[in-house]
Amino acid sequence: MNSYIESVNFFKGNNPEDIVKTYGTPLYVYNEEVLRRHMHDVSQVITKYPYTANYSVKANTNIHILKLALEEGNNCDAMSTGEIQMLLKAGFPKDRIFYIPNNVSAEEMKFAIHNGIMTSCDSLSQLELFGSLKGTKCAVRINPGVGAGHCEKVVTGGKKTKFGIAEEDIPQIFEIAKKYNVKIAGINQHIGSCFMDPQPYLDAVTNLLRIALQFEDLEFIDFGGGYGIPYHKLDDEKPFPMEDFKKKLEPILDDFVAKYGKTPLFKSEPGRFCVAEGSVILGRVHAVKQNAGKKYAGTDIGMNVLVRPSMYDSHHDVEVLRNGKPVSRDHLVEQTVTGNICESGDILAKDRLLPEIKEGDLACLLDTGAYGWSMCSTYNSRPRPAEVMICKDGTVKQIRRRETIEDLMMLF
Ligand code: LLP
Repeated sequence: MNSYIESVNFFKGNNPEDIVKTYGTPLYVYNEEVLRRHMHDVSQVITKYPYTANYSVKANTNIHILKLALEEGNNCDAMSTGEIQMLLKAGFPKDRIFYIPNNVSAEEMKFAIHNGIMTSCDSLSQLELFGSLKGTKCAVRINPGVGAGHCEKVVTGGKKTKFGIAEEDIPQIFEIAKKYNVKIAGINQHIGSCFMDPQPYLDAVTNLLRIALQFEDLEFIDFGGGYGIPYHKLDDEKPFPMEDFKKKLEPILDDFVAKYGKTPLFKSEPGRFCVAEGSVILGRVHAVKQNAGKKYAGTDIGMNVLVRPSMYDSHHDVEVLRNGKPVSRDHLVEQTVTGNICESGDILAKDRLLPEIKEGDLACLLDTGAYGWSMCSTYNSRPRPAEVMICKDGTVKQIRRRETIEDLMMLF
């Protein structure tokens, strides 16, 4: 594919140069239609049984994006009391929030209990804490023994992870629940993030449903998120095979419902799938140079703006824009695209074949809506970027202002 942004008319006729003239660079730019489409698609994963797709807000907690999820009928999963507060501010009713924290303090647990927010306990000790705080009804996170993800750091099921309660510890769940008179209303799992092959997830669903048979009267079963997106779309990578996945999932659910004798509410927790493809980052190329025969293009998209490439070696496609238009990919040159942070690892794209980049071009990084702004930092005292939304009608709306040095100074 020569240009993704042209193929989906990402900017809806707006010239990116005009957008950055108003809002500056680096800039997160979202497309409302793309976001809504993905949020809707995840709500259709299970149609035969009661089901909610819980958007996992850690991927992106911008309140305007949370409002889109609300409008598209998604529920949400929150990882922290901060995320719960963002959701409440966006207008989510408490019963549409599922709190799935890890290693939280009594204070944080109390916050959820007092607000009546369904909470998942990630360990026996957190279940003890929940009971001792007079919580009455909760879920437990099970490790289904299967993990998957784009790299080891994001695998959250199987033997090498801090998450969940192991199957052999299930008898102790019942003991603790009995001791405190806590009802186990649901079980949940999450095997990891960004898999393109649905098989490990299907295996984990099968395992979790086998485990679920030990629990009486479950109100819900949550299979977790992790559906991948094609980060190599300029090389025509295929999307996550959603239709095939749905076809394979249904008989597994049929089998469980027949055995369990009743139908709990099924849930999933997709984060990336909902938001990743709905955003790009625009950054200015401020310098080009050669070091030891290697060509570098230096932009203002530092690792503080997008940490995924330096943290996980993640790939984000790069389009080069000149006068606001994608430069043709007919002639490609090996280049390394970097940020403006004082670290050698501040690299966005290493030894990548790209149209030859010139000073003054815009670099447009694709698929940055998930774990993009939400993982930004102010390293090197660089304020975090603004975010704008290209709305359905083509208007450009600022959905978060750029942080300022004054904002950073306010904390002292
Ligand atoms: N549920 C739980 C309990 C999770 O821990 C996560 C992600 C999700 C749902 C959503 O997973 P998703 O559908 O987005 O894959 N920062 C990393 C990803 C870390 C994911 C953490 N947990 C990255 O940029 O790739």
